[in-house]
Amino acid sequence: MDKHLDKDSHANPNPQDKTFSEADYSLQSLLGGMSVEKFLAEHWHKKPLLVRQALPNFGDWLNRESLSELACQENSEGRLVQFKRGECKLEYGPFEPETLQALPKRNWSLLVSGVNHLLPEADWLLHRFDFIPAARLDDLMVSFAPPGGGVGPHFDSYDVFLIQGQGRRRWEISAQDDLTTVEGAPLRILKEFRVDESWELEPGDMLYLPPQLAHNGVALTDCMTWSVGFRAPKAEEIVNQFLTYLQDKLELPGMYDDPDLKRSKHVAEIPTTMLDWTEKTIRAAARWDKADITDFLGRYLSEPKAHVYFDPPERPKSLAAFTKAIQKKGLALDARSQMLFRGEAFFINGERLEASPGLSSMLKQLADKRYLLPSECMHAPEQEMIGLLYIWYQAGYLFPAE
Ligand code: SIN
Ligand code: CO
Repeated sequence: MDKHLDKDSHANPNPQDKTFSEADYSLQSLLGGMSVEKFLAEHWHKKPLLVRQALPNFGDWLNRESLSELACQENSEGRLVQFKRGECKLEYGPFEPETLQALPKRNWSLLVSGVNHLLPEADWLLHRFDFIPAARLDDLMVSFAPPGGGVGPHFDSYDVFLIQGQGRRRWEISAQDDLTTVEGAPLRILKEFRVDESWELEPGDMLYLPPQLAHNGVALTDCMTWSVGFRAPKAEEIVNQFLTYLQDKLELPGMYDDPDLKRSKHVAEIPTTMLDWTEKTIRAAARWDKADITDFLGRYLSEPKAHVYFDPPERPKSLAAFTKAIQKKGLALDARSQMLFRGEAFFINGERLEASPGLSSMLKQLADKRYLLPSECMHAPEQEMIGLLYIWYQAGYLFPAE
């Protein structure tokens, strides 16, 4: 098994490991010498950017074999796309290893989403994009394709940085407005695709694409693509989720009563008093303020996806041993944990945390960096902080560094 997929190394990222170091890559090279401000003003959510050697030597964390291993795991989100005689076939994982070994030499692609939950090094990669709020992050998807492989011309609803790992891939883009898709295809594939520009990406190259831009990636050799995707919540999704949140919070005593009921002319007509009462009751109940919106958004955005679950430690350390361990080596969030904050409100994995203001700066550091060095674990009022971290350790949300 690939060392990166070992369960223990997954569970125990080391914040002082070289993998977390800033030394090798700078933001300068990631954006090809462009400032973050210029990138955000001119490209982000607007137009593509190709960066040659954005991440030189990047991409040996996974190969066909180890990606296939991930795609066979129960908790992974894998898809296999095959094109045969112009027909597109889509299958969902988890897969049997034999299925993935027996694939033809050309024209297929294996894609695994949520790799940031499975691979500790992914944290390092995602941190390269810290200039974009974590609240926008969707996930890291990794694909493998032999020559001719890809998912066909399409568009996505998110911003994405496509980083070339091993091998070479040709990316074609089109500014076309016609986004009509092929009817009946298992994937959204564009009916017409008019190539405006194309590039061949080599290992370490990166292509940023804004949402709704038609594109097509075709493997030229055996090739791996790493996609860092940033979601933009859809209005319908966010409102639906908020209404469910409101519903869960509602406590509505009382009921309609009509002691003054008068005889009506039409038995089938809905009474005015009932309409008025309903309107008044709904208006009174469906109220919210910024604090409710913050609470909703923090919980919603940090909520683990449906297939994500945490592994509490099998033999948890005692509180004393845990304290000693983090004070010696520091700690890191588990790769699956999502931690966000707004002001003094903190959210982790869909839960809201009530903590005293003394813990605020330590928690902000943990949320931003996803790890704490030993010295940083000592800052806050010690008892309360250790107690809190220990609860998260027992839930599998974080681990002492090794
Ligand atoms: C990929 O094939 O790795 C990326 C697919 C895409 O264009 O979204
Ligand atoms: Co795409």
